[in-house]
Amino acid sequence: MIRNSWYVAGLSRSFKYRLEKKIITALPIVMWRDQAGKVVAFDGRCCHKRFPLWDGKLLDNGILRCAYHGLCYDSTGRCVDIPMQRDLPISPVAQLHAFPVVEQDGLVWLWPGDPAKIGDVKPPRIPELVDARYEAVISDPPVRVRANYRLLIENLLDITHFFPLHDGNIGDLANSMIPVGLVEGDIDGNPKVMTTRSVQNYKLPPYYRRWFELDMVDRHHTHCMIGPGLVRVQLRLAPPGRLGTDDERGYILCHTDTPIDEHNLEWHWIMISRADMRFPPDRSMTIAQGMAFEFPEVVAQDEWALARQQEMLEFSDTLSDNSRYREVNVRSDIGVVHARRVLSKMERLEHNQPFGLPAPSLEMARYASDTQAGGAAA
Ligand code: FES
Ligand SMILES: [Fe+2]
Repeated sequence: MIRNSWYVAGLSRSFKYRLEKKIITALPIVMWRDQAGKVVAFDGRCCHKRFPLWDGKLLDNGILRCAYHGLCYDSTGRCVDIPMQRDLPISPVAQLHAFPVVEQDGLVWLWPGDPAKIGDVKPPRIPELVDARYEAVISDPPVRVRANYRLLIENLLDITHFFPLHDGNIGDLANSMIPVGLVEGDIDGNPKVMTTRSVQNYKLPPYYRRWFELDMVDRHHTHCMIGPGLVRVQLRLAPPGRLGTDDERGYILCHTDTPIDEHNLEWHWIMISRADMRFPPDRSMTIAQGMAFEFPEVVAQDEWALARQQEMLEFSDTLSDNSRYREVNVRSDIGVVHARRVLSKMERLEHNQPFGLPAPSLEMARYASDTQAGGAAA
């Protein structure tokens, strides 16, 4: 897991003057909003005998008291009382490791890795969350999936899974045929891998037809990984020739992806749309509320697929002395392959490992994208 990156630890509104238990990248973390209103995060193990501090107590004076032998910590993580030896000075070692936290756009971001490696890297913004022209509905509590967090990124960067996984709601086979473009770059110091799909005179699948009251459209669809902790999806739809006008419809759908450990992830999906529009199938709801009301059916299908993929990942790839399971990439895996390359580079940098040869899968993707550029079928 990559620790030197920002991940969403929770929604701003969920942090109160109350102890919270978080496991992020397999690290136990205790968090709370201190009496000055700042969210703080520390190693969740009492520095005396590792008792979980989230089972301790926040006292009226802003102090956290461990429930086992009563060591006390202030909101900087410094031990301020050792009840059984008040006659001795407190060792400076009695200090909790603090995790950097940034609260913005209604989200609390945490950097579980080395604070010295933050440099210019900032948590990605979701400006629509603080813009009155937009309305957002956030999955709360988050979705927990028994899957490695990278499987969610790969799911979002390759939407050819809309058929068959989401067939009948947001999916159709025609979607899988849309050529995929790729844009790479950097956003606030976070690596960006974005897939683009643009198509004209496209017949919408059932959900989208109901949600937007459109049938044939021009469609521009992007999926953008911004560091490992966020994937931002934007769907723009309009009657042919009308993208960029008042007739445009669509949504922004942000997915936070926080690794709990190697086998589990926590995911908030955030459905964002124009605040001034109603939901055509039920005009008592805004469009963001309506889409968010129906979206869990889609999420459940993804959860099902990710958990199954994870189960299969845990079997050995070695089949015999000279045979191994091998994954095959197809043309539409271009975003997945580039994200793997970017994330593997981050992992190697974090662990000071030399860069090895590119994996065979990368070569296959290059072949696939070359042939796509040439117009031939791969
Ligand atoms: S383990 Fe916390 S006070 Fe002993
Ligand atoms: Fe999906």
